[in-house]
Amino acid sequence: MGSYRPTDRRRLPAGAPHLISGCRGLAPVGKTVAMDTVVELDHLDGGIALITLANGKVNALSGAVVARIGEIAAELTANPPKVVVVTGGPKIFAAGADISEFGGPDEAAGITERIHVALDALAAIPRFVIAEVSGYALGGGCELALACDYRIASERAVFGQPEVLLGTIPGGGGTQRLARAVGASRAKEISITGRQVKAEEALRIGLADEVVPSEGLRDRTMELATEVARGATIAQALAKAAIDRGLSMSLADGLMVERELFVESFRTEDSQIGVRSFLENGPGKAEFLGK
Ligand code: COA
Repeated sequence: MGSYRPTDRRRLPAGAPHLISGCRGLAPVGKTVAMDTVVELDHLDGGIALITLANGKVNALSGAVVARIGEIAAELTANPPKVVVVTGGPKIFAAGADISEFGGPDEAAGITERIHVALDALAAIPRFVIAEVSGYALGGGCELALACDYRIASERAVFGQPEVLLGTIPGGGGTQRLARAVGASRAKEISITGRQVKAEEALRIGLADEVVPSEGLRDRTMELATEVARGATIAQALAKAAIDRGLSMSLADGLMVERELFVESFRTEDSQIGVRSFLENGPGKAEFLGK
């Protein structure tokens, strides 16, 4: 399953110029660029889109990295794959906003605007978005993972919202998405102490959805991504939309959304294929078309 990784540029020293082969946008195909501000997008077999943060030693979410995440999200929304995986470096998923870009309130307004736009776009990709977290996911790194639909962490992963230790607060959705994931009181305790949350605890409190041994992380991610990619893509997108839309509504309104989207799902060929396959062959045998 290691063959799913088309390249492993992270072995290069931070800052070293290198050839980007699978990247679009900031790093045109075949151009040599500095390692800084790089987010790669690779399309793997089976309809799996892999977004890899490879921005120097700590994967800081600089303005350029955040902008590129937003561009990739727009690209994957316009031409959706079957499933999306977001990953970072082996030791550091992402160390948060680039602190060297911080200044006063004016800079802060730009930083929070840009990261909100990009992470909202990522969260809105109409496909299941899996965060594969192998190391530190701090500050904006934790917020990036929280903007994904599901988090698979290695046992070495460490989460946290340490902004308060800089005298500030999460500005990339952390106060809201963390509270929805782990509950208000735990989110407050994590954000107010700025402490680090290790993988095992993250799993227990619902910040991580799965924790696996480090050496098995990529295999498990691809196992799940492959399973999802074989599914009824439009029905999956409708399920995600119903859950996400419902979370910002009253229960009664959310239930109405579900009713609408349930009916909508029956307009797909996949619903015909799935029902017929079940009646003829039993569960789990349908070969969906994604339409
Ligand atoms: N923005 C800018 N630079 C950062 C950074 C960030 N978010 N996080 C780390 N760096 C820099 C460090 O200043 C250091 O720079 P230097 O080599 O010029 O001294 C370099 O990256 C390596 O960091 P270091 O702390 O030495 O690495 P480490 O492996 O010991 O620890 C982390 C890695 C991620 C645990 C640690 O760097 C850290 O806690 N970072 C800050 C996380 C944070 O507060 N994020 C919220 C931002 S609002």
